[in-house]
Amino acid sequence: MDLEKIHKEIEEWHSGDKDKLEEFRLKFISRKGVFGDLFSNIKNIPNEAKKEYGQKINVLKNAAQEKFQFLIEKVSDGKSDAGEYKDTDFTLPGSGTDIGNRHPLKIAQKDIVEIFQKIGFDLSEGPEIETDWYNFTALNFPENHPAREMQDTFFVEKDPDMVLRTHTSSVQIRVMESTKPPIRTLSPGRVYRNEAISARSHCVFYQAEGLYIDKNVSFKDLKQTMLYFAKEMFGKNTKIRLRPSYFPFTEPSAEMDVYWGLETEVDKKITKGTGWLEILGCGMVDPNVLENCNIDPKEYSGFAFGMGIERIALLKYQIPDIRLFTENDTRFLKQFKSLI
Ligand code: DAH
Repeated sequence: MDLEKIHKEIEEWHSGDKDKLEEFRLKFISRKGVFGDLFSNIKNIPNEAKKEYGQKINVLKNAAQEKFQFLIEKVSDGKSDAGEYKDTDFTLPGSGTDIGNRHPLKIAQKDIVEIFQKIGFDLSEGPEIETDWYNFTALNFPENHPAREMQDTFFVEKDPDMVLRTHTSSVQIRVMESTKPPIRTLSPGRVYRNEAISARSHCVFYQAEGLYIDKNVSFKDLKQTMLYFAKEMFGKNTKIRLRPSYFPFTEPSAEMDVYWGLETEVDKKITKGTGWLEILGCGMVDPNVLENCNIDPKEYSGFAFGMGIERIALLKYQIPDIRLFTENDTRFLKQFKSLI
């Protein structure tokens, strides 16, 4: 048997497809193939040439195995090179490329941002590690006031003046300090609270804060803006209600619910039997807060609101457990398709 010829055949073999691969295996890898014959031929080789012959077929065998490994990888990758085009059937459907998905929280955030951009809000951001001034004091949380207990705070051990921001309301202050009214801004971002992780709450989550400051802004502007948002987000028949509430930085303050329905057992459970679900806090910016930012409360007024992005996404996509957002289970993540 001509070893040179076998060598050439191995070298020039093109993978093409699975059948060709099997043909290669039977011919060059299987014990019943070419090498079986070559090895059993050793006995016919004169003694003085046996060693050289043995070495040659071992080299060939290794080359065959390397080539086989290479062909397997090519077939499973679906790749081909110019030499293989003659074996490729271009009429077969392509295998397609997997593109990534956006994270459902980022899709919800993008939706929120776009809704407010349509009515002239710009975007702003601030740091996640904040000073006490921006997170609390300027927002009218007096020192040692029990209102600070509303938000379980992570403090920075080495600097008692620094906290992980508990809300994006801190960005309101940064914007008002640096911008002259009129102001219309939305500040999405990550916030932190020292809370146990459960199906409904997490110690790291996202909020979007809104702020509108101008002359003669009134509560009815707030209410109409919130109604517009709810309809854009959840559908044009969405109903809202505002319940009186308390936040140090707004006066009067309210919490906003959207009507979810009371038809199914699940509806009853998630709305605690009321049919309504709370989605955000809001109110008229407290004059003390405006003064803290050198804005004259006699000339300007405004409203602010803050919402949890997880909450909005849970509602919009009917997701039962907030922890799914951070588990990175691709079976969950793949369900959310968004082109941009
Ligand atoms: N910062 C509040 C929180 O995290 C939410 C909030 C309520 C923001 C009322 C506001 C507001 O701007 O006016 O619970």
